[in-house]
Amino acid sequence: MQASKTVCLITGASGGIGSAIARALDEKDARLYLVGRNLTTLKELERSLRGEHQCLQADLTSDSGRQELMAAVANDEALNTVIQAAGVSSFAPLPDQSPAMIEASVYVNLTVPVLLSRQLVPVLLGRRSPTIMFIGSAFGSIGYPGFSSYCAAKFGLRGFAEALRRELGDALRVHYLAPRATRTDFNSAAVSAMNEQLGNSMDSPETVADAVLTMLQHPHSQRKTIGWPEKLFCRLNGALPEIVDKALGKKSQQILHFAHENTLKGETR
Ligand SMILES: NC(=O)c1ccc[n+]([C@@H]2O[C@H](COP(=O)([O-])OP(=O)(O)OC[C@H]3O[C@@H](n4cnc5c(N)ncnc54)[C@H](OP(=O)(O)O)[C@@H]3O)[C@@H](O)[C@H]2O)c1
Repeated sequence: MQASKTVCLITGASGGIGSAIARALDEKDARLYLVGRNLTTLKELERSLRGEHQCLQADLTSDSGRQELMAAVANDEALNTVIQAAGVSSFAPLPDQSPAMIEASVYVNLTVPVLLSRQLVPVLLGRRSPTIMFIGSAFGSIGYPGFSSYCAAKFGLRGFAEALRRELGDALRVHYLAPRATRTDFNSAAVSAMNEQLGNSMDSPETVADAVLTMLQHPHSQRKTIGWPEKLFCRLNGALPEIVDKALGKKSQQILHFAHENTLKGETR
C-alpha cells in the first residue's frame, strides 16, 4: 500500500480511534472521507489535518444514512480503502441492558459493517490495492462478563471478516484488527476504573492507528490483536476456552461490580 495514493473512507472518524487513524493517514498524504454523525467534530478534525478531505455526516443505522454515504463516494474512482471503525459499547449485566442498547450494539458493531461491505465491495473490486479493514476487538475473541451483547457482535464481525476474506481471495484485501482497551470516550468511567483495578492495560488511540498503518502496509497481515497478554488470551480462548473460563471466573464478581455501577450511572439506556 502506498499511503500517498490511498483514498480512504473511515467510519467512526469522529471517535477516538477513527480520528487517530485519520491523522495518521493524513500524515502519509492519503485523501480521506471522514464519516460520523457529529458533523461539528468531523469538521474540527478536518481543519486540524493537512490535506483536503471530505466530511460525511451519516447515521449508519439508517438506510438513508448509508445511501447518502454511497452516493457521496459513488463517483470517486480513486476510492480504494475502507476502514470501518464506527462502534458502540454496552457494558452491563445482561438483564440491565435495555433492548435499545442491545439492538444498537448488534446493529452498529455488526450489521452496519456487513451492510456497508455489501455495498462497498463491488465498488472497490478492480481498484488499485482494494482494501477493507474492520476494527474489531479483543472481545471479538474472548467472551467477557458484562460485555455479552458487545462480544456477540464483535465475535460476529470477526467471523464475517474471515468469511469475506475467504470469499474474495486475492481480489480484495480484508484486514481485521482487534484493539484491546483503548483510552477514548468509548469507555465509561466504570470501565476505566475496572481496567485500572484489574491491571488491564489501556492503549492510546495512536497505538491503534500505528497498527492500522502497519497492517495496510503488509497485505498478508490479515488479522491482528494488539497487546500482550491479550494476544495470547485470544488464541488460548479459541483452542482451550476452559482455561480462560477459569481465569475470568475468578474475576467475574469484580467485573460485575463495575458493570452494575455502569447501570446505576445510567450508561445502559
Ligand atoms: N476504545 C476501546 O477501548 C476499544 C477497544 C477495542 C475495540 N474498539 C473498537 O474501536 C472502534 C472505535 O472505537 P472508539 O474507541 O474510537 O469509540 P468512540 O470514540 O466512542 O467513537 C465511536 C465512533 O462510532 C461512531 N458511531 C457510533 N454510532 C454510529 C452510527 N449509528 N452511525 C455512524 N457512526 C456511529 C461515532 O460517531 P459520532 O460520535 O459522530 O456519533 C464515533 O465516530 C469501535 O468499533 C470499537 O468497538 C474500541
